[in-house]
Amino acid sequence: MTQLSRRSLLAASLASPFAGGVSGLATAQSASVPPAPAGPDDEAYWARVAANYDVTGDITNVENGNWGLMAHPVLDAYKAHTERVNRDNSYFARRAYGPIFMDILEETATRLGASTDEIAFTRGATEALQNLIAGYNRLEPGDAVMMADLDYGSVMNTMRWKASQAGAETIEIAIPEPATHDAVLETYRAALTSHPNTRLLLLTHISHRTGLVMPVREISEMAHEQGVDVVVDAAHSWGQMDFTAPDLGADFIGFNLHKWIGAPIGVGAMYIRKGRLGDIDPNMSAGPGEVDSIHGRVHTGTSNFAAYMSVPDAFAFQDTMGWPEKAARLSHLRDLWVSQCQGVEGVEVLTPDDPRMHAGITSFRFSGMASEDENKAIAAYLLEHHQVFTVHRTGVTAGACIRVTPGYYNSARDMQRAAAAILDARQHFLG
Ligand SMILES: Cc1ncc(COP(=O)(O)O)c(C=O)c1O
Repeated sequence: MTQLSRRSLLAASLASPFAGGVSGLATAQSASVPPAPAGPDDEAYWARVAANYDVTGDITNVENGNWGLMAHPVLDAYKAHTERVNRDNSYFARRAYGPIFMDILEETATRLGASTDEIAFTRGATEALQNLIAGYNRLEPGDAVMMADLDYGSVMNTMRWKASQAGAETIEIAIPEPATHDAVLETYRAALTSHPNTRLLLLTHISHRTGLVMPVREISEMAHEQGVDVVVDAAHSWGQMDFTAPDLGADFIGFNLHKWIGAPIGVGAMYIRKGRLGDIDPNMSAGPGEVDSIHGRVHTGTSNFAAYMSVPDAFAFQDTMGWPEKAARLSHLRDLWVSQCQGVEGVEVLTPDDPRMHAGITSFRFSGMASEDENKAIAAYLLEHHQVFTVHRTGVTAGACIRVTPGYYNSARDMQRAAAAILDARQHFLG
């Protein structure tokens, strides 16, 4: 969605971003963020954004991929919602929550460019993707499901489980390294051509392993031409990048709101494209009245009301930064450390500079150090010697690596520190 259309859509809430949201509660103080950054390198602006986050001073945290911090206004709102829910108990849940929830769902669907009958809330991307993949009912014995080494481990396991239940084959491909737009497309084209029995393809929009951004729309189009359905793992992309659900061209998508939207932990969403509901079986707990609804495709039971109620507060805080602006900022923070490390002998940067192929996350590997233990040792060195916190990642065919994930509050100086630490570690390990 363009900045203009998103902004005009939300004009009313932008006028007073934290003045109560859908719950009607006076939730949180106004964020002290001016209306827009001069650019991704406007450190003064981004320092004001950072002032909205409580961040540990013990380390330089460039491991923001696990989940996203709540900004102060969101945390305050979450506390207020929690107090209300706790105080009013079932009286709230049974009488007040229904319309509040529907408003939140409508806002979420609108922001995703979807309609409310295409979106259901979940507790995270895991729950969304588990239900989408497990419920997929078009697999026949002899069909195949396809996935890649850069996909997420537990989601790959769900695909394997689904295939084994259906008597289908599992095809696992390796994404080329170094990755380029054309090479990735060619890899999927070749894989789909040589496995014409493929029925369901898993694509991860932003890989949690390397940060590589997949050209999901182009691959989805290619898959559809061959009659292959596409399920997208967008756990890391919504919020880190600016797009709508239809932009991806996929049939089924799992989202997180507790990573790059900054909602409390425990909020995700599933998307089933209009007309495709019948291809996902109702959840085992769905009642007869839910069979024709996306809400019958996931059954969470009693949920964290306050977490969902904080979603509009989280959106409002994201709006203060601007969605294309924050995407550009994260990419800029990535570029700051990458530009210092790329081209240095022995440092392999695992996303290309092509702006279509990366967002904020990017991993690196020291040449010849591809084992899990070696990469654990590198992450430990960065932490112990430079207080720079990263995480090692495994599962990439070419070998393990270290992931660097800047967050909204990180500064240019943080990224300089990360780069200096990586270069010192390179010297230490490779000489
Ligand atoms: C690519 C990817 N998919 C799925 C998930 C699962 O998300 P969650 O644990 O928030 O449900 C993650 C979590 O990090 C992820 O990175």
